[in-house]
Amino acid sequence: MKKTIVTGGAGFIGSHTWVELLAAGFEPIIVDDLRNSEERVLEGLEKISGHKPVIHRVDCCDAEALDRVFAAERPSSVIHFAADKAVNESVRDPLKYYHNNIGSLATLLRVMDTHQVKNIVFSSSCTVYGNSGHSPVTEDLPPGEAASPYGYTKMVCEHMLRDTVASDAGLRAVLLRYFNPVGAHPSALIGELPIGVPSNLVPYMTQAAAGLRDRLTVFGDDYDTRDGSCIRDYIHVVDLAKAHVLALQWAAKQHPPFCEVFNLGTGKGNTVLEAVHTFEQENGVKVPFVIGPRREGDVPVMFADTTKSRKVLGWQTKLTLADALRDAWRWQQALG
Ligand code: UFG
Repeated sequence: MKKTIVTGGAGFIGSHTWVELLAAGFEPIIVDDLRNSEERVLEGLEKISGHKPVIHRVDCCDAEALDRVFAAERPSSVIHFAADKAVNESVRDPLKYYHNNIGSLATLLRVMDTHQVKNIVFSSSCTVYGNSGHSPVTEDLPPGEAASPYGYTKMVCEHMLRDTVASDAGLRAVLLRYFNPVGAHPSALIGELPIGVPSNLVPYMTQAAAGLRDRLTVFGDDYDTRDGSCIRDYIHVVDLAKAHVLALQWAAKQHPPFCEVFNLGTGKGNTVLEAVHTFEQENGVKVPFVIGPRREGDVPVMFADTTKSRKVLGWQTKLTLADALRDAWRWQQALG
């Protein structure tokens, strides 16, 4: 399991996972065409680790190019991060999401089969639960109605993996459902690189605090929650990255075939306003904000039941929302 292809390894979660894989003795190989990332991520990875990352600048929908990578590298496992992930963009341009997110996984699974690579960890999302109506959510909750084309692509990818495992007695698949990944590496050498106007809370908040945006709009304060704003499970990206290492190690010890699902969250929900106030307290800066109307498609409350990932993977989060918001601010300052 040592040589691992990390698709999307120059992205936000992929780059942090590259660091943890290397530290755990794996040999991570990045496959990323840098369409949503920058060279500086690779420089950051080298500074953090003292190792120059190996990268193949390849689009995962390009079967021939991917085939050449597998032939050259001969990996034993794959972590598939590469995907588009902006919910609102997926509503405007659904075909981009259907093509890239579903097409890349289908292509990757074919190439894996050709090269007899039998281990895959897949980046999924709590979006597959839809508006579950109650939290914490456990992995066995039936999938809800997808709130966006993006969410639907994650559901389809999960199905694709289940169907492929059912047809291949040798395949090991782990589906990791992320809640709200936030923060940055404590070195401030890698972090999230929002392209254009961020749609997620934390990058918008750091940009508002830095004066790059006029103000944050808090989408609704009339929900049935303790302060009226939505509740989410914000998980530090470094904790999240470490779970991928444990998932690979765990999978190696299990008999195939299997397709196992794990929630990755803290198990604790925070409101949007709590996140804003924690950010202000931790960093000693004001976040200019106004209360606005609800955002369409937002689920009022979503946080994880993490019993399974704790018991089975032996994974536990160590970092807090305060840690994440300090690291996010340090990263924002490093970005300039
Ligand atoms: N929010 C604001 N103002 C903003 C941005 C966000 O108030 O400018 C609020 C949202 O309304 C929500 C919370 O902050 O209550 C978190 O919003 P994000 O956009 O950061 O994250 P979401 O919970 O909407 O989205 C996350 C993942 C998606 C995934 C979705 C599933 O980013 O990939 O969970 O619920 F699809």
